[in-house]
Amino acid sequence: MNRAKTIIVSNRLPVKIVFNGEQMIYQSSEGGLATGLGSIYKDGDNIWIGWPGAIINEETKQEKIADDLTDRNLSPIFLTEEEYNKYYEGFSNETLWPLFHYFPSYANYSDENWNMYKAVNQKFADAVLEVLKNDDQIWVHDYQLMLVPQMIRAKARNAKIGFFLHIPFPSYEVFRLLPWRDELLKGLVGADLLGFHTYDDSKYFINSCQRILGLTTNSNQLFIHDKPIIADAFPISIDFDKFNSLANDPLQKPHEENIVKRKGKAKLMISVDRLDYSKGLINRLKAFDKLLEQNPQYIEKVVFVQLVVPSRDTVKQYADLKEEVDKMVSNINSKYSTLEWVPIHYFYRSFSIDLLAALYKTADIALVTPMRDGMNLVSKEYVACKTDETGVLILSEMAGASKELNDALVINPNDSNKFVKALVHALEMPVDEQRQRMRSMREIVSRFNIHHWVKVFMNRLEDVKVLQRKLSVR
Ligand code: ADP
Ligand code: G6P
Repeated sequence: MNRAKTIIVSNRLPVKIVFNGEQMIYQSSEGGLATGLGSIYKDGDNIWIGWPGAIINEETKQEKIADDLTDRNLSPIFLTEEEYNKYYEGFSNETLWPLFHYFPSYANYSDENWNMYKAVNQKFADAVLEVLKNDDQIWVHDYQLMLVPQMIRAKARNAKIGFFLHIPFPSYEVFRLLPWRDELLKGLVGADLLGFHTYDDSKYFINSCQRILGLTTNSNQLFIHDKPIIADAFPISIDFDKFNSLANDPLQKPHEENIVKRKGKAKLMISVDRLDYSKGLINRLKAFDKLLEQNPQYIEKVVFVQLVVPSRDTVKQYADLKEEVDKMVSNINSKYSTLEWVPIHYFYRSFSIDLLAALYKTADIALVTPMRDGMNLVSKEYVACKTDETGVLILSEMAGASKELNDALVINPNDSNKFVKALVHALEMPVDEQRQRMRSMREIVSRFNIHHWVKVFMNRLEDVKVLQRKLSVR
């Protein structure tokens, strides 16, 4: 039977290849995009096109991987070392990522990287065109592939194309710094529907389209030669049921008991991040240091578990940050440790979802304090695992999630005094207040879950096509 399918396209697949000597192992990818969409792509004939996370040059290995992944509805695109350096590390993560996260001084503008970005975007677009059939819908994801919508449109005029940006879209004043701002916007408006995490992000995008491309707009509609397309907010979420059931699973008990035994009478605070300057690790460590300095009564009464997963470690700023974090953790630990107690337990590696869920469930406080974040799924994963409705979430107002999780203790990560106050508030919060706040956050995350997100986005994509047909532009 020839059914319409959804073609998901993103730089990274939800599965990555790691090597154990010569042996290839498939592991889950970290990061919000992979974990967010990871639960929904397997339906029917849907297919997910993307890079499997390792540079593989040998054709026989590539064929084997493609074969292995077909069963999982995944279709790998392989990157050469040069493509990886210039498109992934270079333009995506040394130009777009810092600029879109409001770190313009970290952004590097290189023509060579830009040219490679264009070439690799074309490679992804061609892979889509190869499998595209008439009624299929295409869903392109994230900043690495912003030219793909228009590249597909150029060859498949009537295609149904959605695009979702998983990182913030910056204000016009920041976006305009990009030498290739026009080309990027032209690439994006090849889509019929453009999704962003927050209302502000979508407004910033529309504003840039007006000012840079001179497009006519009406509320969330933009007109491309009279054809309407839509840009709107679709806050991404998580598979609430998956995390909630895992936290309730009796098989998880040994993990939890182990953590509870180890923390003893101390309160457990956790943070879970990729190692990224946008995540606010340094400000968080400074606030923790200040907490202990100003409130010595918490010595031996609080344990901070910081899980950091390695990320983009060949990019200079990431490598520098790793050194800085290592140094700060060691300074704080040497300053406050006692024979019985170490304040920070710092892990630089990936954790299994079981262990992650056990940590979320047993943590009294979660610290999610990015300098800037599109959404931040860790905050939602924490809430989903707090099945007894206790626990406190400290959340940065710079994360998209703060627009939904109003019952968190919302802070500005640059305001160290208020940060410390929030830590004290969290450590002292009565259980009744914790329950009241957590219950309401759990309701939000459970209702507006990842399935809801996909449904709303896809329905809206359909609506845009209907609107376009009604205006009989096509
Ligand atoms: P980003 O997309 O910027 O990485 P998010 O908070 O949206 O940030 O998503 C991060 C995802 O990566 C979450 O699903 C989280 O569980 C996962 N993750 C982060 N750190 C680790 C770790 N040390 N081990 C396993 N998973 C991790
Ligand atoms: C964020 C981005 C994703 C990216 C993930 C992990 O979530 O929005 O596109 O996949 O970080 O980063 P990486 O560079 O390892 O793919």
